[in-house]
Order: sequence, then structure tokens, then C-alpha cells
Amino acid sequence: MIQPHGGKLINRELTGKEKEEALKKSKSLKPLTLTALEESDLEMITVGALSPLEGFMVKKDFDSVLERMHLANGLVWSLPVVKSITTEEKKTLREGEEVLLQNEEGLGLAILKIDEIFPHDRKKHAEKAYGTLEETHPGVARVFKMGDFLIGGKIWLFERPRHTKFLDYRRDPAQTRKVFESRGWKKAVAFQTRNPIHRAHEYIQKCALEIVDGLLIHPLVGETKGDDIPAEVRMRCYEVLIDKYYQKNRVLLSVFPAAMRYAGPREAIFHALVRKNYGCTHFIVGRDHAGVSRPDGKGFYGPFDAQKIFDLFKPEEIGVTPLFFENSFYCKKCGAMATEKICPHDASDRVALSGTQVREMLKRGEIPPPEFSRPEVARVLIEAYQVKVN
Ligand code: ADX
Repeated sequence: MIQPHGGKLINRELTGKEKEEALKKSKSLKPLTLTALEESDLEMITVGALSPLEGFMVKKDFDSVLERMHLANGLVWSLPVVKSITTEEKKTLREGEEVLLQNEEGLGLAILKIDEIFPHDRKKHAEKAYGTLEETHPGVARVFKMGDFLIGGKIWLFERPRHTKFLDYRRDPAQTRKVFESRGWKKAVAFQTRNPIHRAHEYIQKCALEIVDGLLIHPLVGETKGDDIPAEVRMRCYEVLIDKYYQKNRVLLSVFPAAMRYAGPREAIFHALVRKNYGCTHFIVGRDHAGVSRPDGKGFYGPFDAQKIFDLFKPEEIGVTPLFFENSFYCKKCGAMATEKICPHDASDRVALSGTQVREMLKRGEIPPPEFSRPEVARVLIEAYQVKVN
């Protein structure tokens, strides 16, 4: 089985007596409230999805990640994992102290021992992590809403974030690793996604599956921007599709509890490292991975920037093998799904629909062509859109 990033799967969840004691102690600690993104990061740190991280980053890691895409200890890491606080909150806290981390509903989850409190350079954070300061970028907008200071230190979790959705599909890295082992998958490829599955997704997943033993379909179900399709709908699309078109013993559908950052290339590296922690040996990076567009439709990143960034690292530093795919579409002349790499025909022979065009069709109750979306998936989407519209 592939080694987690840094060699050890981190587990920061207390059990038994230690858990009881932490819960008791937490009642007398100052509470700090986590945002939705911070809460999902906390959960991922706890279960080892963000191994080797054991808590929120201190300054030397934050700076090193932004400037060099490595942690201070030399391991590759591309995005900050931080907890911010306000100037007011900072006044009441001191380094060395323990605090309670609670969610937005006030449920206590974990204890953080403050190693360091340091100014949050939001401009540097946004510019380095997202490559822009434009506030129409959802990741940048989020950074500018964060507090003036960052608080770094290890965490000890005594209460898991409570989930009501996808309970059958929640598997920690230790659990996906076990499934791969029990199914005899020596090589597993992960597919990150935040959109409803269409034929291009299915095509690149199946191309990848041809060369490995199993496929982990890992839809992100943490916070996404308002106009992304809700995770419940996306999961239903996957269920109907897998039921009819996938080899069941070769695919595992599991949810990825992360929030979407929309950091394009840097997020592709992050996604790959994290899926290594889930036990995957390979990771799919297609066109405009984790990308996002400006209001006028122009992308913040080039369509293949998220692939090119892998050239900056030695393969052994990343440890998981990226599988790159070009823009995929249905070609009427080929009579098949294809990419520019294999299809000799004109762009006019392609069935190519933009996300906006598809959304408009669905709103009108029109089924997108089967070359774009399987009818079973289209029906789920139409139903969801009709409910939303009415
Ligand atoms: S993402 O933000 O999670 O990357 P999405 O769910 O749309 O968004 O994409 C999932 C994966 O499929 C990404 O690796 C992306 O690059 C890839 N992908 C999506 N559409 C295409 C396409 N038409 N051709 C090639 N790759 C694609």
C-alpha cells in the first residue's frame, strides 16, 4: 500500500478516557468558532487526510508553503491550512494556551494548543495561493473575509463534526485504504470532482481505470460557491450512473469532506497529495482542474496550468502519479468520446456544451444530448432544476 505523505497516517482523534477528559477540560477553555472551510480542514487533519499536518499551520509553514510550495520540513505542500482570528480575539489569547474549537452552531469539537499567533498577510495569501488579487475569485474573496491574525498549533479532536448526509459514503483514509486492500487493488486512481458527472468525466475515469486496478470517485462535498450544483444532486447522478454503467467491483464512491478552494494548479497538487493519503497511487488531472472563471467567462487559470505545475516537482516528492487528460468531448465523426490527442476531426464535429448552456437547457426542462450527458443523469438534474425553479 502506498505510504501517506510524510510516511505516517496522522490520527488526532481522542478516544475513551482521553476523550472524556478533553471534553471536560474544554468547558473551561475560551471558545473560537471555525468557519465552514476551517471545520472541514479540522476534520481532514484529524483523520489523516492532510497528513503530515497535525494542526493549523504556524508562520514558518504558512510562509514556506506560499513562497516555495513546501512545508518548512521540506515536504511538498501547496496550500495554506490555517485558522484565522480577529484582532479582538487576539487580545484575549496568548501563546502556549489551549483553546476550544467549536463549529458555527457552537458545538465543541477539538482543543488547539496555541503554538503561535501571527499577523495574517491576506494580500500575500491571496496572491501566492490563488495567483490573483481580484475579489471576483471566490478563494480570494474568502481570504479577504478572514481575520487579521492566524493561530497555529496542534489539535486534539474529541467530537467529530456531525454529518447528516452521505453517511454510507463517508470513509476516512484508513477506511478507503482497507477497502482497496480487501479488493486487492494495488493501484487505485482517484477522481476529484465538484460538478455533476458528464460523458467527458466518465470517459477520462474509464481511460484511467484501464491502466490501474480500481477507481475512487471522490466528489467534494464541503463548501462550494453558490452556483455549483449541490452535493446531494451530484451524488444521485453518480448513483444512477454507477448502477448502470460501471463495473461495481472496480469502483468505490466515497465523499471527500473538503471545501473547494478554486486554486486551480495549486489545488491540483493539494488534491493529489491528499488522495495519496486516502491510499491512491494515481490521480486524474484533466482540463482546468479546480479552476474558476471571471464573471465575463474568462478563466483565472490556463486550461492546462494544473497539469504543468507538476513539472516543478520531482515525481518522488509527490509520490502519487498524476494522469493527465486533454479536453474531452464527443466527436460525431469518430462516433465516440475523444480528446484532441486522438481525434483528427474539426471542432465543428464535436458535441460541446458549456456549463451555462447546459444549465439553461435544464432550467427549460430540456434533456441535454446523450453525447453530453447520460439520460439517467440528465433526468436527475432536470428534476433538481425543476424543484429549484418552482
Ligand atoms: S474540479 O473543480 O473538481 O476540477 P470538475 O468536477 O468539473 O471540477 O472536474 C473534475 C475533473 O475532470 C478535473 O480533473 C477536471 O480537470 C476534469 N475535466 C472536467 N471536464 C473535462 C473535460 N471536458 N475534458 C477533460 N477533463 C475534464
